[in-house]
Amino acid sequence: MKNFLSVGDVSNLDQLIETALDYKASPFKDRTLGKDKTMGMLFLNPSMRTRLSTQIAAKNLGMDSIVFNVGQDGWALEFEDEAIMSGTTVEHVKDAAPILGKYFDVLGIRTFPSLKNKEEDYSELYIKQFIKYSGIPVVSLESATLHPLQSLTDLITMREVYKEKRKPKVVLTWAPHVKALPQCVANSFSQWVNYWGGADFVITHPEDYDLSKQFTKGATIISDQDEALDGADFVYVKNWSTFDDYGKIYVNDPRWMLTQEKIKKTNNAKVMHCLPVRRNVELSDEILDSSNSVVTQQASNRVWAAQAVLSEILKG
Ligand code: CP
Repeated sequence: MKNFLSVGDVSNLDQLIETALDYKASPFKDRTLGKDKTMGMLFLNPSMRTRLSTQIAAKNLGMDSIVFNVGQDGWALEFEDEAIMSGTTVEHVKDAAPILGKYFDVLGIRTFPSLKNKEEDYSELYIKQFIKYSGIPVVSLESATLHPLQSLTDLITMREVYKEKRKPKVVLTWAPHVKALPQCVANSFSQWVNYWGGADFVITHPEDYDLSKQFTKGATIISDQDEALDGADFVYVKNWSTFDDYGKIYVNDPRWMLTQEKIKKTNNAKVMHCLPVRRNVELSDEILDSSNSVVTQQASNRVWAAQAVLSEILKG
């Protein structure tokens, strides 16, 4: 594996899931793979799980990691080629990234979308500029449109939890939120589940909350949440802002919050969320605190997803 930006960088998804589960069973089996290597982790935006799980994964492989909170501590970066830098940006990625390429062996980047300019966000300019100018492998720690380490974790968790022979019914449901959030997690989950092909995949959301078809193609899309939840084995809860009229909140209808009452329509579904979660806005306490919730197991699996990806990168 050269870079890790999406499911398109994975040559054998089932094998990658198995590698992650092998690391879960035996975390230190490749403890010298990353010896004398260092991962730089650049955060233009906040993180808890991604940052810590990736650092633990690197450590398990014998690799050092250094975190740099660019958004907080670094010079404001410019990403546009040929920009006249007379505004607020101080350093061009063209100058910064090659230096990072000399300091580190692998570069992880977290860079959220602006939610103001759809074309720019969906071009993934920021992370692509780091690939172009750093000259070393780049791992997405969540980019403008996708969150691949989260999605790999999600598939690992479903593989771990689900023991039936038939395909599980997996429902991605929109949930209310107080802020306009990126589409990244929902886009990415849709992309990975569709590529995986191991589920009957349904997406449900209010009118005008359609995600980009490039990620949802292959899923059944239903606007009636009750109908979508019928017989579900997994319910993945996530808010996202509008895609077509980009980055807006059209509705915040609390009736879209997943509750225990709604779980009764499912096949005693396991409930997933990438976290952080707004309790009693996106998901009720009664669900998060019940045995239906697998969110802690899911978040703990972030380590094994990151370790599987870093091992592939280190093996080249
Ligand atoms: N799910 C996730 O990416 O969590 P963090 O934002 O805390 O890294």
